[in-house]
Amino acid sequence: MKPIISPSLLAAKSDNLGNAVSLVERAGAQYLHIDIMDGHFVPNLSFGPHIVDGIRNVSKLYFDVHLMIEHPEKYALPFIKAGADCITVHPESSGDIKSVINICKDNGVGFGMAIKPKTPVDKFKHYYNDCEILLIMSIEPGFGGQKFMPDAVGWIAEAKQLRDELGAAYKISVDGGINVETAKLCIGAGVNILVAGTALFNSNDPKGFIDQLIG
Ligand code: DX5
Ligand code: ZN
Repeated sequence: MKPIISPSLLAAKSDNLGNAVSLVERAGAQYLHIDIMDGHFVPNLSFGPHIVDGIRNVSKLYFDVHLMIEHPEKYALPFIKAGADCITVHPESSGDIKSVINICKDNGVGFGMAIKPKTPVDKFKHYYNDCEILLIMSIEPGFGGQKFMPDAVGWIAEAKQLRDELGAAYKISVDGGINVETAKLCIGAGVNILVAGTALFNSNDPKGFIDQLIG
């Protein structure tokens, strides 16, 4: 199965986000990865629900919202109301994960978990049967344009094995430093979703680039 491409909105040109999203949608992306940063969990700020709501009006993509924030249980619902299809949280944050799972279930949207590079892949496995997406971070979260950590290939393989062991159904996603070379390594390890920011939005031929990514 070919991987799903989830362009990271963080790397889109901010003077016309709607247009940037339409372009990658026409180029073959199926998801849109939306990075939410609070300046506490990560040392950077990005978008609020208002921007997600605006993009929702111009796009039919599956909105994969990556919350890099403390207390995600406070903000899950506003992002769902703004149009999120899946809410992905960091278990390393000081948050109430159970309540995010319940909010997602009650509102009929997916729940996902994102694992930072230093977090063992199996540390939070007791939640994985509730996950639609398990997001493996191949960089320290906070900024786009960083270099892919090669260890992530092993973490993807581990996430795949764990899925079999648990009888879970999550899609394995990888986020950070994805380009044609690193995508190949991740696909070889069994990844299902490729999040691509800088390399995709900097390309002057997004369709050709996506075709190359999925091989
Ligand atoms: C960083 C974000 C990523 C980032 C990926 O914390 O989670 O989604 O935008 O961007 P690139 O592809 O530039 O590494
Ligand atoms: Zn992300």
